[in-house]
Amino acid sequence: MTAVSMSFVAFSVLLVLSSSPFSGECARILAFFPTTIRSHQLMNCALAKVLAEAGHNVTVIGATTNVYPRAKYRYLRIGGLAISNELTKTFINIPNMAAYKYLGVVHTVLRAHNATLAQPKMQHFLQTSQESDYDLLLMTYLINDFHLGLGAHFRCPIVMFSVVEPVKKIHRWVGNSDEISYVPIRLSGMVQPLNFFQRVKNFLWYFLESVMLYGSMETSMEEFYNYNFPSDRYPPLDEVRKNVSLIFTNHHFSQGPIRPNVPNLIEIGGIQIKEKPDPLPTDIAKVLDESKEGVIYFSLGSNIKGSHLNEEKIKIMFNVISKLPYKVLWKWSPTELPGESKNIIFRDWLPQDDILAHPNVKLFITHGGMGSVVESQYHGVPMVGIPLFGDQPSNMVNVERSGYGLAVDYLTLSEESLNNAIQDVLNNPKYKEAVQTFSRLYRDRPMTPRETVVYWVDYVLRHKGAKHMQSPAVHMNRWQLLSLDVIGFLLAIVLTISVVIVKVCKLICCRGRKNKLPKVEKAKKN
Ligand SMILES: *[C@@H]1O[C@H](CO)[C@@H](O)[C@H](O)[C@H]1NC(C)=O
Ligand SMILES: *[C@@H]1O[C@H](CO)[C@@H](O)[C@H](O)[C@H]1NC(C)=O
Ligand SMILES: *[C@@H]1O[C@H](CO)[C@@H](O)[C@H](O)[C@H]1NC(C)=O
Repeated sequence: MTAVSMSFVAFSVLLVLSSSPFSGECARILAFFPTTIRSHQLMNCALAKVLAEAGHNVTVIGATTNVYPRAKYRYLRIGGLAISNELTKTFINIPNMAAYKYLGVVHTVLRAHNATLAQPKMQHFLQTSQESDYDLLLMTYLINDFHLGLGAHFRCPIVMFSVVEPVKKIHRWVGNSDEISYVPIRLSGMVQPLNFFQRVKNFLWYFLESVMLYGSMETSMEEFYNYNFPSDRYPPLDEVRKNVSLIFTNHHFSQGPIRPNVPNLIEIGGIQIKEKPDPLPTDIAKVLDESKEGVIYFSLGSNIKGSHLNEEKIKIMFNVISKLPYKVLWKWSPTELPGESKNIIFRDWLPQDDILAHPNVKLFITHGGMGSVVESQYHGVPMVGIPLFGDQPSNMVNVERSGYGLAVDYLTLSEESLNNAIQDVLNNPKYKEAVQTFSRLYRDRPMTPRETVVYWVDYVLRHKGAKHMQSPAVHMNRWQLLSLDVIGFLLAIVLTISVVIVKVCKLICCRGRKNKLPKVEKAKKN
């Protein structure tokens, strides 16, 4: 090796070292991602991946297969109850309001989470690790409060990750206020600004959500916590909830709604999206590069399989799509293909983020899952949505309202409705313009989501849990938060003073009369 090439190598090494964003000591991080939903796991593991790249020792416990096999973390796969095919079918095919479908999912997921901790591999992990083995617990939120007990088990600070905009419940953990007079409840599907009747509706939604959703969940949550983390060895769930140091949310204010946030709620919207796409598989790259007129990308997400859908609906989709004058990349797995057509390229897996990043993609036909919608928004690709269940219908309502695309109803899907939506979004430039304007807003930030994750996790580690960021609201009860105790106290004072004044007045009056009376009597006598 010549001196020149040696100094070049030394220089490159230096460059690599100095460009690593890691600035503190290597910490041992336990990332607990019990979801069985692959699209969620892509977001969860994106955090673990960037922390491992930054030099931390990251152990991921997951219920799916490892979604980033080349990542530098250690991946421990425990089994988990996947949401069964039967159940998925039921969710898709029952006509009902979005909230009802959402509730169904909630309770199924909750029960599945209880089983997660009982998995033999999870039990083995807990039994073979020491309490002092981890410096930080990174946990994803998916209706699994009782998993916070792991933070108590390892006696370490907890950082939470919410794959979507946090729900009311998570806001409460960091003391973020609800602001129901102008922040719409997510399930209601409303957007800001709210007029008077919408505010009435929001108020009612707020109670519906508090009582029905969280009220019904809370009992199971306590039960599962006490079962898994018995009170003779662990602090109560309420205490553990107060120990959350920081929450990352896969959301960005440019998506709305606008609301105030406490300092330990950090937005990392789009964390799963690569700032620079990976190279595409050669055959896919060829199709995209050569189709100057544009390509349509069609995927109903990673959880939906061909077998979940009704045959008649599949036929409708195929008939419409096979007649389009564009090449279509259709993610379809693993059952029999819906048909053959020269313009359709079927694959059971496609690199969605990298495809959407390609400038020739003209339209994304999607199920409206949060991950897909955000990727499409990031890359500025207009959408046609066929939402199926969970939060998909409300995500698509937002897409429509914002003008980024159109939604069609799956249950009443017809060739006409699907074709009309596709033609409109393809031919009317307003959809593309709207989503591209949003894309510019969404990307305009002081730090990328990946840099943000590394910075704030290091921050929590550096400051031993960063308790100084915690809002005092976390330690207050509902009455105190609404100042009802103060109002009550002041009312009591006003009431007491009023009573005293009235009493004193009466006394003075009576005295006055007594003083006067003798005079009258005297006068009478005279
Ligand atoms: C939670 O899971 C455990 C282990 O599978 C089970 O024994 C227990 O009955 C479950 N709890 C409830 C309330 O279902
Ligand atoms: C990473 O952390 C785990 C858990 O504390 C530990 O068992 C393992 O030895 C660590 N690995 C390295 C390379 O330090
Ligand atoms: C809260 O976290 C600290 C470490 O930051 C830990 O020592 C303590 O035991 C935890 N408390 C509870 C109630 O989990």
